[in-house]
Amino acid sequence: MNNLADSRNGTASSGDDIAVRFDAVTKRFGDATALREVSLSVRSGEFMTLLGPSGCGKTTLLNLAAGFFSPDGGEIRIDGARVNDVPTYRREIGMMFQNYALFPHMSVAENIAYGLKVRHIAKKERDRRVEEVLALVRLAGMAGRKPRQLSGGQQQRVALARALVISPKVLLLDEPFSALDKNLRASMQVELREIQRKLKVTTIFVTHDQGEALSLSDRVAVMSDGRIRQLGTPEEIYRRPCDRFVASFVGDANVLRGRLDGFDGAHSTVAVGTARVKVPEAPLRGVALSTPVDLFVRPEQLKIAEICAPSAFGGRVAAQVYQGGHVDLYIECAQSASDRLLVRSAGQDAMTRWPVGAEVGMIIGIDDAVAFPVP
Ligand SMILES: Nc1ncnc2c1ncn2[C@@H]1O[C@H](COP(=O)(O)OP(=O)(O)OP(=O)(O)O)[C@@H](O)[C@H]1O
Ligand SMILES: [Mg+2]
Repeated sequence: MNNLADSRNGTASSGDDIAVRFDAVTKRFGDATALREVSLSVRSGEFMTLLGPSGCGKTTLLNLAAGFFSPDGGEIRIDGARVNDVPTYRREIGMMFQNYALFPHMSVAENIAYGLKVRHIAKKERDRRVEEVLALVRLAGMAGRKPRQLSGGQQQRVALARALVISPKVLLLDEPFSALDKNLRASMQVELREIQRKLKVTTIFVTHDQGEALSLSDRVAVMSDGRIRQLGTPEEIYRRPCDRFVASFVGDANVLRGRLDGFDGAHSTVAVGTARVKVPEAPLRGVALSTPVDLFVRPEQLKIAEICAPSAFGGRVAAQVYQGGHVDLYIECAQSASDRLLVRSAGQDAMTRWPVGAEVGMIIGIDDAVAFPVP
């Protein structure tokens, strides 16, 4: 696939140069504001994910990059050039959506070649590029089939091939795998990431699935209500969510009632039972000592103490759910600010060790987390 990759390297590939820049972009539909002064820079070759709940503006931001409509305020640049008024077909973007929208009467090869044909690429070159991209998405030998003769996953690969064959400056993907079953989805995710890395194509990927966002992305922009709430690497947004919304939306979170116990430069300490947990100071700035605060702890960070071993606080097993690789235990306790605590135990004996009704001691299995003032 060197040719596909090479044709893009001319534009930009190194370091921190910006392929797509949204600068204070606002979009309204009638009275409704879908995007509120959104600023976001996507680096060349980066895999950027827009993550957020339904209606938060993800597709709108992607459609603005595609040129399906123009912003009401702000500016969009691709490779440094302002594109606010540049039509879609002149933006050199590849797109793939949830419904693959393949042409049913055309063969796989014709579907893929379509974008080259409208760009007046000669037949010989078209055939070469179609063959190359078919090999890339592992569909060599299927060029003559019609879309209806393909499985859902194969159709998605054709859609991806069609988006890539034009050597786009930017690849825009809107929930491309949401119609696929869980296993197929997982394998398509891995394939997409491998292809994207190989081609170094700048990619903006939209999903409301936080697992997908965490596993695929170089960086994730978490959105809600037309705004970007946090931009960071998957680890940053999972381990250091900036507010309660991000902490609750990205990954499972237990909310524990704690008290602000101390300050120490950039960190504060929160007390939950006998545990003292270090948290970033910024979200608790201005909160007085001993004030109740909410500590957000992931299910894998809570553990059940061995019998007679010291624990932070006590609880009672309310329910168990066998998940194959692990067991989800639901614990009732006074420290939980939400309903029950969710604890993930990898031990295969968890079902018998901690039966429903058992009184258990809880440990917070980390020394750093995040906390926010009680709303
Ligand atoms: N063409 C349109 N006309 C009117 N309102 C629109 C239009 N497109 C989007 N909206 C509104 O703008 C807001 C953002 O929509 P958008 O499609 O960007 O959300 P989304 O984050 O992609 O959601 P989902 O996860 O459900 O796809 C929503 O409130 C939606 O109703
Ligand atoms: Mg959408």
